[in-house]
Amino acid sequence: MVATPRVLVLNGPNLNLLGTRQPEIYGTETLDDIINLLRTQAMMAGWELGALQSNHEGELIDAIHAARLNGTLAIIINPAAYSHTSVALLDALNTFDGKVIEVHLSNIHKREAFRHHSYISQRADGVIAGLGSLGYQAALNAIVATLKSD
Ligand code: DQA
Repeated sequence: MVATPRVLVLNGPNLNLLGTRQPEIYGTETLDDIINLLRTQAMMAGWELGALQSNHEGELIDAIHAARLNGTLAIIINPAAYSHTSVALLDALNTFDGKVIEVHLSNIHKREAFRHHSYISQRADGVIAGLGSLGYQAALNAIVATLKSD
């Protein structure tokens, strides 16, 4: 029997506040809204979707380590502020063999200079920024279109 392909969606610090956090930048949808839609999208494509939001770097790293071992084929990650600071998250993603897509709700290149560089982009197979929550859906589309479980 062929195993259901699995994708993991990781969201970093402060993204639990989506909906009320600077809605003019990050939109009015909550993270639950975004994940529920993604879960449906994944299900329709025959994929299983795991999701974790954490305000703690180590928890995100532990989730990446777990993904290495449980057959996860791809990770969609919005590392939030850790994008701009975390070599540890980059190192963790470098131990993961699957596809990695980095998503930012806002266009980080249009914002403050300290947001222009992301450590994670060095590992990411694709980077999506500035499309709001549609960015997550586009990332999942790309994963489903390019990966098959066989
Ligand atoms: C973000 C952009 C980051 O610079 C910021 O720290 C975030 C969210 C985005 O989704 O646009 O928390 O990753």
